[in-house]
Amino acid sequence: MEPIVKWAGGKRKLAPKIVELLKIGECTDRYVEPFLGGAAVFLHLVDEFPTNLFPMQYLLNDALKPLIDAYYAIVVDTESVISELSAIRTSYELPLEEFIDAEMQAEYRNELYYQVRRCFNSGGVNHDCHMPGTVAMRAHLAADFIFLNKSCFNGLWRISRKTGEMNVPHGKPKKLSLPSADQLREFAQLVPRQSLRCTDATGLLADCGDGDAIYADPPYDTSDDNVAEPAGSFTTYAGSFNWEDQVKLADALRGAAHRGARVVASNRATDRVIKLYDDRGFTVEHVGVRHSVGAKGDRRGIVGEILAHRGPG
Ligand SMILES: C[S@@+](CC[C@H](N)C(=O)[O-])C[C@H]1O[C@@H](n2cnc3c(N)ncnc32)[C@H](O)[C@@H]1O
Repeated sequence: MEPIVKWAGGKRKLAPKIVELLKIGECTDRYVEPFLGGAAVFLHLVDEFPTNLFPMQYLLNDALKPLIDAYYAIVVDTESVISELSAIRTSYELPLEEFIDAEMQAEYRNELYYQVRRCFNSGGVNHDCHMPGTVAMRAHLAADFIFLNKSCFNGLWRISRKTGEMNVPHGKPKKLSLPSADQLREFAQLVPRQSLRCTDATGLLADCGDGDAIYADPPYDTSDDNVAEPAGSFTTYAGSFNWEDQVKLADALRGAAHRGARVVASNRATDRVIKLYDDRGFTVEHVGVRHSVGAKGDRRGIVGEILAHRGPG
Protein backbone atom coordinates (compact mmCIF):
# COMPACT_ATOMS: atom_id res chain seq x y z
CA MET A 1 0.00 0.00 0.00
CA GLU A 2 1.00 3.62 -0.41
CA PRO A 3 2.42 5.63 2.50
CA ILE A 4 -0.12 7.62 4.54
CA VAL A 5 2.12 10.68 4.57
CA LYS A 6 4.34 12.38 2.02
CA TRP A 7 7.88 12.11 3.38
CA ALA A 8 11.16 13.70 2.32
CA GLY A 9 13.61 10.95 1.42
CA GLY A 10 10.80 8.41 1.00
CA LYS A 11 12.11 5.11 -0.39
CA ARG A 12 9.20 3.80 -2.46
CA LYS A 13 11.32 3.39 -5.57
CA LEU A 14 14.16 1.62 -3.79
CA ALA A 15 11.88 -0.55 -1.62
CA PRO A 16 11.95 -3.68 -3.87
CA LYS A 17 15.76 -3.67 -3.92
CA ILE A 18 16.00 -3.10 -0.15
CA VAL A 19 13.54 -5.88 0.64
CA GLU A 20 15.46 -8.24 -1.69
CA LEU A 21 18.73 -7.46 0.14
CA LEU A 22 17.09 -8.15 3.51
CA LYS A 23 16.43 -11.79 2.46
CA ILE A 24 13.29 -11.83 4.60
CA GLY A 25 12.33 -15.43 3.73
CA GLU A 26 15.55 -16.71 5.35
CA CYS A 27 15.09 -17.14 9.11
CA THR A 28 13.84 -13.63 9.88
CA ASP A 29 11.83 -13.35 13.09
CA ARG A 30 11.56 -9.60 13.23
CA TYR A 31 11.73 -6.63 10.86
CA VAL A 32 13.28 -3.48 12.39
CA GLU A 33 13.02 -0.03 10.81
CA PRO A 34 14.60 2.57 13.16
CA PHE A 35 14.03 5.59 10.84
CA LEU A 36 10.48 4.87 9.74
CA GLY A 37 9.38 8.19 8.16
CA GLY A 38 6.61 7.45 5.65
CA ALA A 39 7.12 3.68 6.14
CA ALA A 40 7.50 3.06 2.37
CA VAL A 41 9.79 0.06 2.83
CA PHE A 42 7.71 -1.52 5.59
CA LEU A 43 4.56 -1.13 3.48
CA HIS A 44 6.27 -2.69 0.47
CA LEU A 45 7.53 -5.53 2.64
CA VAL A 46 4.05 -6.43 3.93
CA ASP A 47 2.77 -6.38 0.35
CA GLU A 48 5.50 -8.88 -0.59
CA PHE A 49 5.26 -10.95 2.56
CA PRO A 50 1.65 -10.75 3.79
CA THR A 51 1.48 -10.79 7.57
CA ASN A 52 -0.82 -13.85 7.56
CA LEU A 53 1.78 -15.90 5.64
CA PHE A 54 4.90 -14.50 7.33
CA PRO A 55 3.88 -13.84 10.92
CA MET A 56 6.89 -11.72 11.81
CA GLN A 57 7.29 -9.21 14.58
CA TYR A 58 8.00 -5.59 13.75
CA LEU A 59 9.84 -2.76 15.45
CA LEU A 60 8.91 0.51 13.74
CA ASN A 61 10.59 3.60 15.13
CA ASP A 62 11.05 7.28 14.40
CA ALA A 63 12.32 10.06 16.67
CA LEU A 64 9.66 12.46 15.37
CA LYS A 65 6.96 12.24 18.03
CA PRO A 66 3.99 13.72 16.11
CA LEU A 67 4.57 11.19 13.31
CA ILE A 68 4.58 8.18 15.64
CA ASP A 69 1.65 9.64 17.62
CA ALA A 70 -0.29 9.95 14.35
CA TYR A 71 0.48 6.33 13.39
CA TYR A 72 -0.49 5.20 16.89
CA ALA A 73 -3.80 7.06 16.68
CA ILE A 74 -4.54 5.56 13.24
CA VAL A 75 -3.94 2.09 14.68
CA VAL A 76 -5.89 2.43 17.94
CA ASP A 77 -8.55 5.04 17.08
CA THR A 78 -8.98 4.41 13.36
CA GLU A 79 -12.59 5.51 12.98
CA SER A 80 -12.09 8.68 15.04
CA VAL A 81 -9.13 9.70 12.87
CA ILE A 82 -11.20 9.02 9.73
CA SER A 83 -14.04 11.23 10.93
CA GLU A 84 -11.71 14.04 12.09
CA LEU A 85 -9.95 13.97 8.73
CA SER A 86 -13.23 13.98 6.87
CA ALA A 87 -14.30 17.10 8.83
CA ILE A 88 -11.09 18.91 7.85
CA ARG A 89 -11.53 17.86 4.22
CA THR A 90 -15.11 19.16 4.17
CA SER A 91 -13.97 22.55 5.50
CA TYR A 92 -10.98 22.82 3.16
CA GLU A 93 -13.02 21.79 0.13
CA LEU A 94 -16.01 24.10 0.64
CA PRO A 95 -17.32 24.63 -2.91
CA LEU A 96 -16.64 27.81 -4.85
CA GLU A 97 -20.37 28.73 -4.70
CA GLU A 98 -19.89 29.42 -0.98
CA PHE A 99 -17.49 32.28 -1.76
CA ILE A 100 -17.67 35.58 -3.62
CA ASP A 101 -14.87 34.46 -5.94
CA ALA A 102 -11.90 32.07 -6.28
CA GLU A 103 -9.62 34.56 -4.53
CA MET A 104 -11.80 34.52 -1.40
CA GLN A 105 -11.83 30.73 -1.50
CA ALA A 106 -8.02 30.65 -1.69
CA GLU A 107 -7.78 33.11 1.21
CA TYR A 108 -10.14 30.98 3.28
CA ARG A 109 -8.06 27.84 2.62
CA ASN A 110 -4.90 29.69 3.54
CA GLU A 111 -6.38 30.89 6.82
CA LEU A 112 -7.70 27.40 7.58
CA TYR A 113 -4.20 25.93 7.10
CA TYR A 114 -2.64 28.41 9.54
CA GLN A 115 -5.49 27.91 12.01
CA VAL A 116 -4.92 24.12 11.99
CA ARG A 117 -1.16 24.68 12.29
CA ARG A 118 -1.64 26.98 15.33
CA CYS A 119 -4.02 24.53 16.93
CA PHE A 120 -1.67 21.59 16.25
CA ASN A 121 1.30 23.47 17.66
CA SER A 122 -0.51 24.46 20.83
CA GLY A 123 -1.84 20.93 21.46
CA GLY A 124 0.87 18.85 19.89
CA VAL A 125 4.06 20.07 21.50
CA ASN A 126 3.89 18.70 25.03
CA HIS A 127 0.85 16.53 24.72
CA ASP A 128 1.51 12.87 25.46
CA CYS A 129 -0.75 10.91 23.14
CA HIS A 130 0.12 7.58 24.70
CA MET A 131 -1.68 8.54 27.91
CA PRO A 132 -5.06 6.87 28.42
CA GLY A 133 -8.23 8.97 28.29
CA THR A 134 -7.12 11.18 25.44
CA VAL A 135 -8.74 9.43 22.48
CA ALA A 136 -10.46 12.51 21.06
CA MET A 137 -7.33 14.65 21.37
CA ARG A 138 -5.14 11.89 19.91
CA ALA A 139 -7.38 11.44 16.86
CA HIS A 140 -7.69 15.20 16.43
CA LEU A 141 -3.92 15.73 16.46
CA ALA A 142 -3.37 12.80 14.08
CA ALA A 143 -5.85 14.27 11.59
CA ASP A 144 -4.21 17.70 11.91
CA PHE A 145 -0.80 16.12 11.36
CA ILE A 146 -1.93 14.33 8.19
CA PHE A 147 -3.70 17.41 6.85
CA LEU A 148 -0.68 19.66 7.51
CA ASN A 149 1.66 17.11 5.92
CA LYS A 150 -0.49 16.93 2.80
CA SER A 151 -1.06 20.65 2.42
CA CYS A 152 2.21 22.20 3.59
CA PHE A 153 4.87 23.43 1.21
CA ASN A 154 6.28 20.48 -0.73
CA GLY A 155 5.29 17.98 1.96
CA LEU A 156 8.24 18.89 4.15
CA TRP A 157 7.80 18.50 7.88
CA ARG A 158 10.13 20.94 9.57
CA ILE A 159 10.18 22.08 13.16
CA SER A 160 11.66 25.25 14.61
CA ARG A 161 14.80 24.57 16.66
CA LYS A 162 13.82 27.35 19.06
CA THR A 163 10.19 26.53 19.76
CA GLY A 164 9.81 22.93 18.56
CA GLU A 165 6.79 24.03 16.54
CA MET A 166 5.96 22.98 13.00
CA ASN A 167 6.71 26.07 10.90
CA VAL A 168 6.25 25.10 7.24
CA PRO A 169 4.11 27.51 5.16
CA HIS A 170 0.96 26.55 3.31
CA GLY A 171 1.74 24.75 0.04
CA LYS A 172 -1.62 25.74 -1.55
CA PRO A 173 -2.12 22.34 -3.21
CA LYS A 174 -4.36 22.31 -6.29
CA LYS A 175 -5.86 19.08 -5.01
CA LEU A 176 -5.81 17.95 -1.39
CA SER A 177 -4.87 14.27 -1.49
CA LEU A 178 -5.64 12.97 1.97
CA PRO A 179 -5.49 9.20 2.59
CA SER A 180 -8.83 7.46 2.10
CA ALA A 181 -10.75 5.78 4.92
CA ASP A 182 -9.91 2.39 3.39
CA GLN A 183 -6.22 3.23 3.30
CA LEU A 184 -6.25 4.22 6.97
CA ARG A 185 -8.14 1.03 7.89
CA GLU A 186 -5.66 -1.08 5.94
CA PHE A 187 -2.73 0.64 7.66
CA ALA A 188 -4.35 -0.01 11.06
CA GLN A 189 -4.66 -3.71 10.17
CA LEU A 190 -1.02 -3.98 9.14
CA VAL A 191 0.68 -2.22 12.04
CA PRO A 192 0.56 -3.93 15.44
CA ARG A 193 0.28 -1.14 18.04
CA GLN A 194 3.05 -2.60 20.21
CA SER A 195 5.49 -2.37 17.28
CA LEU A 196 5.56 1.46 17.29
CA ARG A 197 8.39 3.24 19.10
CA CYS A 198 9.57 6.83 19.37
CA THR A 199 13.17 6.95 20.47
CA ASP A 200 16.70 7.51 19.22
CA ALA A 201 17.57 4.90 16.58
CA THR A 202 21.07 4.11 17.81
CA GLY A 203 19.84 3.20 21.30
CA LEU A 204 17.13 0.98 19.81
CA LEU A 205 19.72 -0.99 17.82
CA ALA A 206 21.55 -2.05 21.01
CA ASP A 207 18.79 -4.65 21.55
CA CYS A 208 18.87 -6.00 17.99
CA GLY A 209 20.64 -9.13 16.80
CA ASP A 210 19.88 -12.73 15.91
CA GLY A 211 16.79 -13.15 13.71
CA ASP A 212 16.43 -9.41 12.99
CA ALA A 213 16.33 -7.86 9.52
CA ILE A 214 17.14 -4.15 9.88
CA TYR A 215 16.65 -1.39 7.34
CA ALA A 216 18.19 1.94 8.46
CA ASP A 217 17.44 5.11 6.49
CA PRO A 218 18.89 7.99 8.52
CA PRO A 219 18.83 11.65 7.50
CA TYR A 220 21.53 11.80 4.85
CA ASP A 221 25.09 12.97 5.32
CA THR A 222 24.96 16.63 4.38
CA SER A 223 28.48 17.60 3.54
CA ASP A 224 31.63 16.25 2.06
CA ASP A 225 34.61 17.83 0.34
CA ASN A 226 33.64 16.28 -2.97
CA VAL A 227 29.89 16.64 -2.92
CA ALA A 228 27.97 19.89 -3.17
CA GLU A 229 24.70 20.03 -1.23
CA PRO A 230 22.17 18.75 -3.78
CA ALA A 231 19.38 21.11 -4.77
CA GLY A 232 16.35 20.60 -2.60
CA SER A 233 18.02 18.26 -0.14
CA PHE A 234 16.20 18.00 3.17
CA THR A 235 17.70 16.28 6.14
CA THR A 236 16.51 17.95 9.34
CA TYR A 237 13.09 16.36 10.18
CA ALA A 238 13.20 15.70 13.93
CA GLY A 239 16.42 17.55 14.72
CA SER A 240 20.01 17.52 13.56
CA PHE A 241 21.79 14.29 12.68
CA ASN A 242 25.46 15.13 12.41
CA TRP A 243 28.56 13.19 11.37
CA GLU A 244 29.10 11.89 14.91
CA ASP A 245 25.56 10.45 14.78
CA GLN A 246 26.33 8.81 11.40
CA VAL A 247 29.42 7.15 12.90
CA LYS A 248 27.52 5.98 16.01
CA LEU A 249 24.80 4.58 13.78
CA ALA A 250 27.22 2.65 11.56
CA ASP A 251 28.87 1.21 14.71
CA ALA A 252 25.48 0.23 16.13
CA LEU A 253 24.52 -1.45 12.83
CA ARG A 254 27.81 -3.36 12.77
CA GLY A 255 27.16 -4.39 16.41
CA ALA A 256 23.69 -5.70 15.49
CA ALA A 257 25.21 -7.67 12.57
CA HIS A 258 27.83 -9.16 14.93
CA ARG A 259 24.95 -10.32 17.14
CA GLY A 260 23.28 -12.03 14.17
CA ALA A 261 21.17 -9.42 12.35
CA ARG A 262 21.00 -8.83 8.59
CA VAL A 263 21.39 -5.11 7.89
CA VAL A 264 20.72 -2.71 5.01
CA ALA A 265 21.43 1.03 5.35
CA SER A 266 20.94 3.84 2.86
CA ASN A 267 22.72 7.16 2.66
CA ARG A 268 24.12 9.76 0.32
CA ALA A 269 27.12 8.55 -1.69
CA THR A 270 29.73 10.82 -0.11
CA ASP A 271 33.32 9.58 0.15
CA ARG A 272 33.19 9.50 3.92
CA VAL A 273 29.91 7.55 4.04
CA ILE A 274 31.30 4.97 1.61
CA LYS A 275 34.45 4.61 3.74
CA LEU A 276 32.40 4.48 6.95
CA TYR A 277 30.46 1.40 5.83
CA ASP A 278 33.28 -0.18 3.86
CA ASP A 279 35.54 -0.07 6.96
CA ARG A 280 32.84 -1.90 8.93
CA GLY A 281 32.58 -4.81 6.53
CA PHE A 282 29.50 -3.72 4.59
CA THR A 283 29.12 -4.22 0.85
CA VAL A 284 28.43 -0.78 -0.63
CA GLU A 285 26.24 -0.57 -3.75
CA HIS A 286 25.62 2.65 -5.66
CA VAL A 287 22.05 3.48 -6.60
CA GLY A 288 20.58 6.66 -8.12
CA VAL A 289 17.31 8.01 -6.83
CA ARG A 290 15.28 11.00 -7.91
CA HIS A 291 14.30 13.16 -4.94
CA SER A 292 10.67 14.07 -5.35
CA VAL A 293 10.05 16.04 -2.14
CA GLY A 294 11.75 19.23 -1.11
CA ALA A 295 12.78 20.73 -4.40
CA LYS A 296 11.23 22.90 -7.06
CA GLY A 297 10.26 20.76 -10.04
CA ASP A 298 12.97 21.98 -12.37
CA ARG A 299 15.70 21.62 -9.72
CA ARG A 300 15.00 18.01 -8.81
CA GLY A 301 17.97 15.94 -9.76
CA ILE A 302 19.47 12.49 -9.57
CA VAL A 303 21.41 12.30 -6.33
CA GLY A 304 24.02 9.60 -5.82
CA GLU A 305 22.97 7.26 -3.04
CA ILE A 306 24.29 4.03 -1.63
CA LEU A 307 22.86 0.91 -0.09
CA ALA A 308 25.29 -0.64 2.39
CA HIS A 309 24.47 -4.19 3.39
CA ARG A 310 25.90 -7.08 5.32
CA GLY A 311 24.76 -10.40 6.67
CA PRO A 312 25.10 -11.72 10.20
CA GLY A 313 28.56 -12.21 11.63
C1 LIG B 1 15.16 9.64 5.34
S1 LIG B 1 13.86 9.73 6.49
C2 LIG B 1 13.20 8.10 6.43
C3 LIG B 1 12.33 7.93 5.21
C4 LIG B 1 11.67 6.56 5.13
N1 LIG B 1 12.63 5.53 4.83
C5 LIG B 1 10.59 6.58 4.05
O1 LIG B 1 10.64 5.81 3.08
O2 LIG B 1 9.68 7.41 4.18
C6 LIG B 1 14.69 9.77 8.02
C7 LIG B 1 13.80 9.70 9.26
O3 LIG B 1 14.63 9.61 10.42
C8 LIG B 1 13.99 10.28 11.50
N2 LIG B 1 15.04 10.59 12.50
C9 LIG B 1 15.91 11.64 12.54
N3 LIG B 1 16.78 11.50 13.55
C10 LIG B 1 16.47 10.34 14.17
C11 LIG B 1 17.02 9.62 15.28
N4 LIG B 1 18.08 10.08 15.96
N5 LIG B 1 16.45 8.44 15.64
C12 LIG B 1 15.37 7.96 14.95
N6 LIG B 1 14.80 8.60 13.91
C13 LIG B 1 15.35 9.76 13.51
C14 LIG B 1 13.33 11.49 10.86
O4 LIG B 1 12.26 11.95 11.65
C15 LIG B 1 12.90 10.92 9.48
O5 LIG B 1 11.56 10.49 9.51
